Amino acid sequence: MKEAKYIWKDGKLIPWAEATTHILSHTLHYGNAVFEGTRAYMTKKGLAIFRLKEHTKRLLDSAKIVCIKSPFTQDELEKAQVELLKANKDEYKGNVYIRPIIYLGYGVMGLNHINAPVNVAIAAWEWGAYLGEEGLNNGIKVKTSSFVRNPTKSFMGKAKAAANYLNSQMAKHEALACGCDEALLLDDNGFVAEGSGECFFIVRNGKLITPPYDNTLESITQATTIEIAKDMGLSVEQRRITRDEVYIADEAFFTGTAAEITPVRELDARVIGNGKAGDLTKKLQQAYFDVVNGENPKYSHYLTYID
Ligand SMILES: Cc1ncc(COP(=O)(O)O)c(C=O)c1O
Repeated sequence: MKEAKYIWKDGKLIPWAEATTHILSHTLHYGNAVFEGTRAYMTKKGLAIFRLKEHTKRLLDSAKIVCIKSPFTQDELEKAQVELLKANKDEYKGNVYIRPIIYLGYGVMGLNHINAPVNVAIAAWEWGAYLGEEGLNNGIKVKTSSFVRNPTKSFMGKAKAAANYLNSQMAKHEALACGCDEALLLDDNGFVAEGSGECFFIVRNGKLITPPYDNTLESITQATTIEIAKDMGLSVEQRRITRDEVYIADEAFFTGTAAEITPVRELDARVIGNGKAGDLTKKLQQAYFDVVNGENPKYSHYLTYID
């Protein structure tokens, strides 16, 4: 990890190395915390955060779902992220990943979390392609996970909650251990849900198909991709997909803040399409990069520039 100079913690900028927490922090034991993953792109006009408002809103929505009272408002948290990036500006030479987290600190033990102190921290560091440059260009190899995506009867998947990610972590580990790059998780009815940290799309006969939100995080990149695709005149269908439909798809790709638009070239040893990044996937990927890099004025309202 490429360290930066400061981390924002509970309203103050502190040196990176001093952003530590007590071993008896409630979250460390019982897993209740919510976080975000947001990117800032090094555009021609300088660093710009992509969809800061939406990510910050989802952070606060996540906190509401898991009954954590944020001590900071939407406006304060947006300003804090801008302040942090400004303070670290000279450290960043490329794109940046921002990780705000609302967690439960030191002072209370036992499962009841309501009286635990709430802490908020924001870190931001330079980070390249999550699934690798090679994957971004030529596609990745994916395995259908043996882990079912956290079912909605037991988990609250609209929250980007730390505890939800044990499922993702195990699925990711299994995929890597089996020689793949990423996992595709099915829901408890056997339909495609999402990747370990991404949403999923296929292309069939020129049409984009992506699962409904029932068993996915409400993804900001998925929404952006749908918006871009519609702008390009493509038709987009949000409906259930089976794993065998993926095998016979013309193209497939993952979307996510970290993963951006990453083509999928293989699922469970079945080659998707021609086994390369699909033509439509490439077009959408280019359009997405234009949007996040401030090259498409129609989407400039999604960017918060750091001056
Ligand atoms: C489980 C999961 N699904 C989907 C996504 C994609 O969401 P977004 O596009 O908002 O980053 C993520 C990443 O945050 C994720 O962790």
